[in-house]
Amino acid sequence: MSESTILVERIEKIGIIRLNRPKNLNALSSALIEELLSALRIFDKDPAIGAIILTGSEKVFCAGADIKEQRELSFVRAYNTNYLRNLNDGLLGVHKPVIGVINGYAIGGGCELAMMCDILYAGENAVFGQPEIKLGTIPGAGGTQRLIRAIGKSKAMHMILTGDTINASEAESSGLVAKVLPVNEVFEAAVETARKIAGFSAPVTAMAKEAVNEAEEVGLKSGLHFESRLYHSSFSLADHVEGFGAFLEKRTPQWINE
Ligand code: HXC
Repeated sequence: MSESTILVERIEKIGIIRLNRPKNLNALSSALIEELLSALRIFDKDPAIGAIILTGSEKVFCAGADIKEQRELSFVRAYNTNYLRNLNDGLLGVHKPVIGVINGYAIGGGCELAMMCDILYAGENAVFGQPEIKLGTIPGAGGTQRLIRAIGKSKAMHMILTGDTINASEAESSGLVAKVLPVNEVFEAAVETARKIAGFSAPVTAMAKEAVNEAEEVGLKSGLHFESRLYHSSFSLADHVEGFGAFLEKRTPQWINE
């Protein structure tokens, strides 16, 4: 049997997925992508899980598409099989918040995978880049679209057209990541945040995530309309009654996820 390309564990209500192809710097082989998407689907469906952490090792998050695999692909095969579209579509389909913990290289498809997460925490050794231009290709899993939204056009264009990388503190100051911490502290900090998120009402958390993600898709007017619809829908939840009641009665809310 071939070795697993990911490691999966649970800490309380948090599902943890670690990319695990150390010899290839966690490059995105088809097998890894399949296992990753399957683990995400399982956690997303499991009512005992409230948040997901996606990470690599303390040395590397992911060095992008598997170069050996991609080299063998003709245009027609990539086109017919929709190569790597499943990664993007799979992550977009996850209702629960996904926190990416990035140590070391997040390069090419690795940077794109990081940007598919909802919140990013980086270790001080993190390096982000879209070096596809050096290989004779372009970012293919959202890099040209998400990087500009994350850090603005000039910085995104600079990274994509030069292949130059940015370090953790540049990633933080440009808004790509939420926090930078020492490598030996960053995972625990993400667990703490995931624990906090998983402690809220699950349907409300999913609504908040969906409304924020909608902002990346539509103009302001449509986005505000979408937000209003979800906001008003939340009034019908038992957890809404509970949350408002608990505040006014000065007690801790007991969420039932309904
Ligand atoms: C397959 C890879 C790989 C990759 C590294 N390796 N990146 N294998 N696919 N993307 C392998 C190397 O061949 C080597 O194998 C081993 O991992 C260790 O890599 P080194 O280069 O020796 O490590 P280091 O000197 O630390 O340099 C790290 C690095 C470099 C700077 C990240 O590995 C690098 O530049 N890798 C390529 C990154 C890249 O261009 N990614 C974009 C891919 S295209 P051996 O057998 O020699 O030990 C892409 C398109 C997006 O992502 C598509 C959407 C998903």
